[in-house]
Amino acid sequence: MSKGRFITLEGGEGGGKSTQVFRLAERLRRTGLSVVATREPGGAEGAEIIRKLLVAGDPGRWDPMTELLLHFAARRDHLRRTIWPALERGNWVVCDRFADSTMAYQGYGQGLGPAVVDSVYRLVVGDFKPDLTLILDLPAAEGLARADARGGDNRYERMDMAFHERLRQGFLEIARREPRRCAVIDASQPADSVTEAIAAAVRSRLSVAV
Ligand code: TMP
Repeated sequence: MSKGRFITLEGGEGGGKSTQVFRLAERLRRTGLSVVATREPGGAEGAEIIRKLLVAGDPGRWDPMTELLLHFAARRDHLRRTIWPALERGNWVVCDRFADSTMAYQGYGQGLGPAVVDSVYRLVVGDFKPDLTLILDLPAAEGLARADARGGDNRYERMDMAFHERLRQGFLEIARREPRRCAVIDASQPADSVTEAIAAAVRSRLSVAV
């Protein structure tokens, strides 16, 4: 059985990632592939419990290092229980956020820096990386306004604009560092155009007819 592929969708708040994960998973299924759609933080029983600690409550609830470790603890559970077994079965996995969110939010946004995030990544995740990462990019103010209109309550959405600007630049820096793995998608377009741009990137980079 051929090994599955691991695709991640990344970006700041309000870029429409969840909708696009759903649509991409559907398109891949229509080509006959078995697809697991999942998310971080979460995607496994224990990881979903850790998610509640991370997204609820006061913005200053954790110091950046505690927060980094909680995200990686959730990620380790998600990898062991969900992602790695699915890939072993030959499924494709489409994930709403993964470790680039830790780099952008905790590394750049909360100021821990890339070297700290990289070293914890190596310890917890090892050499494993996504086959393709789609970074949904839009101005921070636009994304926050959309997230606000959606009415979600996530403590990261309540962090200040300077934080959201830093993490947007962080995602763009990740794409510059790893252009073979990452494609930047303009998420300020209408959702259907974003879906088409994602499909084009998946076709050209992973040779699948979505
Ligand atoms: P979401 O479900 O809206 O993406 O919410 C999850 C929040 O967690 C989002 O605001 C980004 C944040 N986050 C981090 O700060 N670091 C991480 O590693 C991950 C996966 C998410």
